[in-house]
Amino acid sequence: LVAGIDSSTQSCKVVIRDAETGRLVRQGRASHPDGTEVHPDAWWAALQTAIDQAGGLDDVAAVSVAGQQHGMVVLDENGEVVRPALLWNDTRSAGAAADLIEDLGGGEAGRRAWVDAVGIVPVASFTLTKLRWLARTEPENAARVAAVCLPHDWLTWKLSGARGLDTLRTDRSDASGTLYWSPKTGQYRPDLLELGFGRPIATPEVLSPTGVAGHLPNGAPLGPGAGDNAAAALGAGALPGDVVISIGTSGTVFVASDVAPDDPSGTVAGFADTTGRFLPIVVTLNAARVLDAAVRLLGVDHEQLAKLALSAPAGAGGLVLIPYLEGERTPNRPRATGAIHGLTLRTSDPAHMARAAVEGMLCALADGLDALVRHGATANRVVLIGGGARSEAVRRIAPALFGLPVLVPPPGEYVADGAARQAAWVSLGGDAAPTWTAESPEVYEDAGVPLIREQYAAARDAVIDRPEG
Ligand code: XUL
Repeated sequence: LVAGIDSSTQSCKVVIRDAETGRLVRQGRASHPDGTEVHPDAWWAALQTAIDQAGGLDDVAAVSVAGQQHGMVVLDENGEVVRPALLWNDTRSAGAAADLIEDLGGGEAGRRAWVDAVGIVPVASFTLTKLRWLARTEPENAARVAAVCLPHDWLTWKLSGARGLDTLRTDRSDASGTLYWSPKTGQYRPDLLELGFGRPIATPEVLSPTGVAGHLPNGAPLGPGAGDNAAAALGAGALPGDVVISIGTSGTVFVASDVAPDDPSGTVAGFADTTGRFLPIVVTLNAARVLDAAVRLLGVDHEQLAKLALSAPAGAGGLVLIPYLEGERTPNRPRATGAIHGLTLRTSDPAHMARAAVEGMLCALADGLDALVRHGATANRVVLIGGGARSEAVRRIAPALFGLPVLVPPPGEYVADGAARQAAWVSLGGDAAPTWTAESPEVYEDAGVPLIREQYAAARDAVIDRPEG
């Protein structure tokens, strides 16, 4: 047996599977506080509960932890957490991100320099911007920091029972979202870390795809783990030509590739994957929670929202919802707000509003898909996963907006499954993660309804920012 763990923005999931066949044997799940600033102890408590619910880890042969990416976990010299983690969806370091671009030449030249150095352009999500914010805004806390790591690294380290900062480990996929590790060279950039934080601090060793990060008390190895998107790429069993779109707390569009993307606009980030390759990715801050917001606004449940959306005409009669409810990262508009355009007497009813919410969320992801293709991805089909993919309206409307057939695998824990597959690879050895037979996906084809992407694009460019303060 092997275990895979997903410590996400809102909860912790554990799956225990047969290493050779992938058969699901046991699982557990526990929520923890969400938001944009959370103490890592909350993740640890949820992990303990989820492990208990899954019947413990005593009989597993290997474990891997996947987790939300980029979160800044800062430790003092004794390995104690200095302050609550700032997460990927926290935009307070947007100014620090802009300054980091200035530091390397500003504008186009600055963005190009960052892509050449580490494959990504600073936005508030990435770890180094948070370190810079900390150094500037909380000098007393910053002075106590001896090491920085990511959510999945910290949980792996806790599970291993190790205490020394020199025993922290991470993997390529998560290291590639920090701004101080280059997926192309496989090397840290201590100069860039120092540029952001003002002085050198310890970072985890970056393991190979089947490297061992430590051991459980029963001697089972802990795999290197992964960022959640890279783990989902492994767990969803995507084939060449499949682009994965995940509608979770974040919206992500990604594809495994032999070639690192090169996008100085920052739209396509050049992350690493879990197999030694690359994971070009576009990430939006607003996805499943756009549907939650529509549910609240309309006073309905998710099923009713889907029915309402499907009862309105494609294009919602010109009603467009721009879903930037938490600010946005793609496009990089950290202070942007959501907007409703095209309201008329004819479109001011719950059905049009429901349709506009679903279409707006999907249009933002379709923009991401276009960007990925512009940067060289082959897209024959979309594999749609994440909580948002459970909506009947999302599944039926998506093919027209993506312009591709959409495959929806059965609901599952694809991030935890990817971690479990990595653990099986660590345990069984070999050149690649074992192939597990997956249940057949449902397939949705483009029904040929008119596209609303132009209206969306016009409305998108007219959103307004939150006032300062
Ligand atoms: C990826 C990102 C999000 C988080 C969500 O760049 O910020 O997808 O990983 O957990």
